[in-house]
Amino acid sequence: MSNTPIYGNYHGYYTKRPSAKDPRLSLLPSGIFRGARVLDVGCNEGWVTCEIAQYWGADKVVGVDIDDTLVRAAWRRRRTVWSLQAPSEPKVEGLGSEEGVISKKRKRESQAFLSEKSKLSLPDYFPMSCEHEFGSLPVPPSQNRGKQVFPHNISFRTADWTSTEIPEDAERYTVVIAFSISKWIHLNTGDEGLKNFFRRVYQVLEPRGAFVLEPQAWDTYAKAKRMDERLKENAKDLKLRPDDFENILTSFGFGRAQHFGTTGEGGFRRPVDMFIKL
Ligand SMILES: C[S@@+](CC[C@H](N)C(=O)[O-])C[C@H]1O[C@@H](n2cnc3c(N)ncnc32)[C@H](O)[C@@H]1O
Repeated sequence: MSNTPIYGNYHGYYTKRPSAKDPRLSLLPSGIFRGARVLDVGCNEGWVTCEIAQYWGADKVVGVDIDDTLVRAAWRRRRTVWSLQAPSEPKVEGLGSEEGVISKKRKRESQAFLSEKSKLSLPDYFPMSCEHEFGSLPVPPSQNRGKQVFPHNISFRTADWTSTEIPEDAERYTVVIAFSISKWIHLNTGDEGLKNFFRRVYQVLEPRGAFVLEPQAWDTYAKAKRMDERLKENAKDLKLRPDDFENILTSFGFGRAQHFGTTGEGGFRRPVDMFIKL
């Protein structure tokens, strides 16, 4: 992969766009990921992907990116996030027996302890400094019951998803996320390539599935195309503009856009829209 980030494959992207809670996700309807199978196309270092898997109740989340170095960083992100996650409430055995009386007391104590800790909002249960010094905590083997829970409900793949199927596509998804990637697909593969991408998203979604799109504005293409001669040449032939995307998507069988608002700072200020597969 060339050193020029012609796919928007920025390394350290989330140091420029840091957020423990991604504001784009906060714009979405709260139940959208509950029990869902989610594909995050262009997952970069996996921060958004991990947040969906950890906090939004998704059963399965797959992040795909064209840049293998980023995908390896995404797997590391999973380990980091797992290390920082506080343990859940301990299980109390033996309720009902004499022993159970003691256990109930212990349970009350442990609940009180945990709620005190959560008041202190526990991000430093395993501080980042521990990870720097000792490495991340190992991920325990998944038991069947935990398969739909972080960190077992997430995986990453390296692929150019515009042209390559990944095995998870066959089962189809409830939600496909495309945050800040349409410009890169558009500049690399032209109007037809972008349309093919939208078609593929339609194909891999279940009926009533949701496509969540955060398109970059047309005026940001100028700077992007300057980084590479091929992108500059490709850009000359582009007829489609981001304002046309809604009509293209509806012509492929999606409903009209649901606009959830605009978020992000400075050059990252972009709309987040959702299209339902009819
Ligand atoms: C600007 S970053 C956006 C990262 C992330 N979606 C976000 O908004 O937080 C675009 C990402 O899309 C990836 N990408 C671009 N074209 C791709 C393709 N055809 N298939 C898979 N990933 C792609 C890049 O490698 C990069 O990590």
